[in-house]
Amino acid sequence: MLPLFKRKTWIEEPLKDPHVIGFGSTKGGAGRTTMAIEIGSLIAFISEKRTAIIDWDVVNPRLTQRAYKSLPMRGQTLVKVITAKNFERALKNVSLHEVSLSQTSRVSVFPALSYEDIDNGTVDEYFNMMYEKPEEYIKRCKTLIKFLRNRYEYIINDYPAITWVALGHLTLSINMLRVTAGNLVIVVDSSPWSAELLSSKLILPKIQDLDIGALVVNMVKPSADAVNWAKSVFKPVCERIRASNFVILPFDPTFYDAGIGRLKDVISVSVSPVKSYSRSARYLYPLVDRFLKNENVPKCWYIGPQ
Ligand SMILES: Nc1ncnc2c1ncn2[C@@H]1O[C@H](COP(=O)(O)OP(=O)(O)O)[C@@H](O)[C@H]1O
Ligand SMILES: [Mg+2]
Repeated sequence: MLPLFKRKTWIEEPLKDPHVIGFGSTKGGAGRTTMAIEIGSLIAFISEKRTAIIDWDVVNPRLTQRAYKSLPMRGQTLVKVITAKNFERALKNVSLHEVSLSQTSRVSVFPALSYEDIDNGTVDEYFNMMYEKPEEYIKRCKTLIKFLRNRYEYIINDYPAITWVALGHLTLSINMLRVTAGNLVIVVDSSPWSAELLSSKLILPKIQDLDIGALVVNMVKPSADAVNWAKSVFKPVCERIRASNFVILPFDPTFYDAGIGRLKDVISVSVSPVKSYSRSARYLYPLVDRFLKNENVPKCWYIGPQ
């Protein structure tokens, strides 16, 4: 088998399923987990359909920590299922717990890992599999989504950053997005480098043919100047990646989940389509509405402060 870095042309066929939404970004801390939780909870709330959220971020499993207040000690986890000796059987035994990540809706969470997986080496096996058997890894990711999609109407994927391990594995990271996200939401913070990287030759050709539901420019300073600056810098990026929606989300303290020494308790924006606790959350309603109605024409429809 050729080493991964030599197989530059390895590009998987994209998943075509708007009910499988993935949250990706080119760097950590951009707000993928926050968006996955808020948008996933809103989808479950408005659609009243069974919704599952998968935490793919084994290195920074914040979604799992938010759902379980910590990492679980043991039990069913993504790394365990993906690395299982008998994968088909492990899949059949998957049973996700419903958790309240918001005040109004319950979603089923697939935790990334447990303490047991760290102690007994399952996490190592997971990364070994990525490096040594990338095709098998991707095949399993694909099968997992297909399997869960038979049980859930909506699947929400919270990914690690695209460049998560090293640039040599960018191909693997992007292929993972390609086979597990039928609607890719790209979250960026408002640094110009995020824009450059996204529309650079490194990434653009590998995501251009995907259905990109939104470019979300997150944590923009809530001032007219900063919003206008973000609009002018990121609108061309949005057009280049052909995203359906262009969202500007100002920094909003109600979204901020870090407490001292632990993650803050559940915050919710899914209160009602007209009332929300958070200033920025109101921009998520029209986005979710468009997702649910399947209005995914690549037109960079603007949602955000005027
Ligand atoms: N719009 C926002 N306003 C304020 N804080 C935010 C916003 N979006 C995300 N955050 C906070 O920024 C931090 C990083 O967000 P997170 O969703 O964990 O990023 P990622 O999953 O991309 O690494 C978290 O503490 C989160 O609560
Ligand atoms: Mg995260």
